Amino acid sequence: MAADEVRAGAGAEATGGLTTLSDHVLRELEQLAIDLAREAGRFIVDERPRGLGVAETKSSATDVVTVMDQRCEQLLRARIGAARPHDAVLGEEEGSSHGTSGVTWVVDPIDGTVNYLYEIPAYCVSVGAVVGDPSRPGQWWPVAGAVFNPVSGELFHARSGAGAGLRLGEQATTLRVSGAHELAQSLVATGFGYRPEVRTRQGEVLLGLLPAIRDIRRAGSAALDLCSVAAGRVDAYYELGLNPWDLAAGWLIAQEAGAVVTGLAGRGPSHEMVVAAGPGIQNLLVQRLQEQVPG
Ligand code: IPD
Ligand code: CA
Ligand code: CA
Repeated sequence: MAADEVRAGAGAEATGGLTTLSDHVLRELEQLAIDLAREAGRFIVDERPRGLGVAETKSSATDVVTVMDQRCEQLLRARIGAARPHDAVLGEEEGSSHGTSGVTWVVDPIDGTVNYLYEIPAYCVSVGAVVGDPSRPGQWWPVAGAVFNPVSGELFHARSGAGAGLRLGEQATTLRVSGAHELAQSLVATGFGYRPEVRTRQGEVLLGLLPAIRDIRRAGSAALDLCSVAAGRVDAYYELGLNPWDLAAGWLIAQEAGAVVTGLAGRGPSHEMVVAAGPGIQNLLVQRLQEQVPG
């Protein structure tokens, strides 16, 4: 494989042949992810209706979707369709559409919807370009992505093999994970799903972990949590029950900033578990979480 090409790691046989992308295409995907995240981020702020309501509930009464989640995803789908009509799209609100190029855009139109609803400034648009099949855990990999917080103006971005960056106004910085090497001194972000039975398990896992770490943070956006790992603002992040759209862009951004991103027991990050941290503590955290998660 040429140095300027990327194939999404091992598993090519299992996935029936993965798409190989040139550096030129990766740059194009990253730029499109950046443009989409910025435009959609401005859209959810500018178009926010006064007295915004909850359009419907999804998995439970606490799992809300606003009319803006739906409108934002429609915008993203329209833009992707115009720019790259042969790519597939997987979005939180409308599910998956078929493509023929081997690239799938995995988008969360608002990650941190509850924060958005309450006007807590920790929400974002997450746009990832992936290869493989995002409906099959362990069989897909992000190759480019962007996460934009329209309130702070922070734009996190990465493409495979090229590092991760943060843009804020005219400033551009390279992202790097913290050098934490002791769990006891580590600040760990996590999140909670919407289903009561999942929350019960998450609470049990947290209870077992809490005495072993510095402290916990729950910001309310998985994509921003992963970007916080990338920026060294927290030392680690883990969560059970994530979906591909929570994960696609942030996974790559954290990884390109030096994080190790896995699931449990040598598996890749998935619905079962996502653990992202610098190499000094990632395995220690995985070990500790394995002790807490049954089965
Ligand atoms: C949620 C957020 C939250 C995480 C949940 C996600 P949404 O996404 O990322 O931080 O803990 O697991 O479902 O519903 O705001 O898009
Ligand atoms: Ca989400
Ligand atoms: Ca969402």
